[in-house]
Parts: sequence; C-alpha cells; structure tokens
Amino acid sequence: MKEDVAYHVMAPEQKKYGDPIIEISHLVKSFGDNHVLRDYSLTIRKGENVVVLGKSGCGKSVLIKCIVGLIPYDKGSLKVFGNEISEIQQQELDELRAKIGFVFQSSALYDSMTVRENLEFALRRHGKGKSRTEVNALVEETLDNVGLLHAVEVMPAELSGGMRKRIGLARSLILKPEIMLYDEPTTGLDPITAKEISNLMLKMQLKYNTSSIIISHDMHCAQLTANRLSVMIDGINYAEGTFDELRKMNDPKVHAFFEIL
Ligand SMILES: Nc1ncnc2c1ncn2[C@@H]1O[C@H](COP(=O)(O)OP(=O)(O)OP(=O)(O)O)[C@@H](O)[C@H]1O
Ligand SMILES: [Mg+2]
Repeated sequence: MKEDVAYHVMAPEQKKYGDPIIEISHLVKSFGDNHVLRDYSLTIRKGENVVVLGKSGCGKSVLIKCIVGLIPYDKGSLKVFGNEISEIQQQELDELRAKIGFVFQSSALYDSMTVRENLEFALRRHGKGKSRTEVNALVEETLDNVGLLHAVEVMPAELSGGMRKRIGLARSLILKPEIMLYDEPTTGLDPITAKEISNLMLKMQLKYNTSSIIISHDMHCAQLTANRLSVMIDGINYAEGTFDELRKMNDPKVHAFFEIL
C-alpha cells in the first residue's frame, strides 16, 4: 500500500461484532456543483459504535440524513437492515425510522412542550399504542437513564445546553432503537459534561446492544466511545480503524485529527 493511500484499513476487532446493520457502499451525493459524498463506503455491525470524523462541512450530517431518508442520494447503495433506502416505500421507511434514534446536531426539542411532553411526543409519533401507566413508566425510566428524572416537568428553555443534549438523547432512546445516530453529541459542552454524554452513549450501547454512528470532532469523545472510526475526507472513507490504529497511521491528513490530543 502506498503511504498516502490509507483507504479501508479494517480493524481486526470488527470481527467480534454481529451482522451488518448499516451497509453504505460507494455512496454519491452532490448539491449542484457541490460534490459532498463522492464514493463513501462504511459498514456498521450489530452492537458496534462507529465514529465518523471529518472537517466541518465535509458531509457528515448529509451522510446520516441519507441513512434516515431525509436526503436522497444520487448513486451507490445504502442499506439499513438489508433494505435499500432509495427503493423502499414511505410506510416501510416509517417503520424503519421507528428503529432508528436520531440525535440532531441541535437538540431540536419542542420549546412549547415540557420535557415529559417532548418524550411522549416521540412515543406517540411512532404509534406504539401504550397505556398511560406504561408511557409514564417509560418516560421515567428513560429520564433516569440520562440522569434527569428531576427535570420531567421542566420547559426546555429552563435547561442548560448539556441538559438539552441529554433530553435530546432521552427522546431518541425512549423508543429503544436498534440504531442510534448521534450528530455532534458533545459539541459546545464543557469537557466534564461532554465526558458524561460519552459515558451515556457507552452505557446505552452496552445496555441495549445498539449499533451507533457517532459524528464528532471531539477526539476525547471518539476515544471513549469508538469501537472503530472512519475519517471522511473529500467525500470518501479515507481511513478506517480503531482509535489506536488511526493514531499510529503515518498519514498527515489522518494525523491532523490527533494533534490536538
Ligand atoms: N439540504 C442541503 N442543500 C444544499 N446543500 C447542502 C444541504 N445540506 C448540506 N449541504 C451542503 O453539504 C455540505 C456538507 O454539509 P454537512 O452539513 O453534511 O457538513 P458536516 O460535515 O456535518 O459539517 P459540520 O461539522 O459543520 O456539522 C456543505 O457544503 C453544505 O453546505
Ligand atoms: Mg454536521
């Protein structure tokens, strides 16, 4: 292998995870002349946390929006639980989305609803048909998971940035999703709160065996949460491996991400 070409270095530990859950293969997405994803490939297996690193504006959010069908892709293949996203019907897409928790870059809470109502809304939207007692128990269990049971009746405006992130997380986790997509879950938080959020993501992975994509520039978060990382550069999966494999890689573009540590 030439030194400057580090594509698809497979982490040996990938073997111990389950079946492929998300399979992205040669994905292409442009907005006019803006060629964002050029040929991006990545596989996420059952129970695995994969961190996607990349400079601001390189296409990380576009990638996860393609996964949930919010942005249509131009070419290539993107399969979730074996279903090609560009080919499935709206109803199947809705069913699929119910299995995916998406934590937006902004927490995207409904400001006119209390924390409880925000969580209940997520449940209602996916039509789980639960009784009031079951709903209350779920809301409380989920808030307890993120350490914010006491904030159940609070309005989002009264929450700090870190609390909003945790409620955003709770709102996705309440559906017990098989897949979690986290877009910059720790950005803008102080290092201690960022570490708490990272630990929370790990806890959820272990408790529910979720498969996750975590988009982040936070290298401490990446180190803590990633079983494997993908470095997105110029719209491709430029390098892939465990945190230590990438850190040791003799490639200046990859190394740049580790210099801040
Ligand atoms: N809906 C859209 N229409 C047109 N262009 C878009 C759209 N969404 C994203 N883009 C463009 O795609 C590129 C990648 O954007 P994206 O939001 O994926 O970046 P990112 O890697 O998530 O950056 P950041 O780290 O700052 O969040 C940018 O040039 C952006 O302007
Ligand atoms: Mg983004």
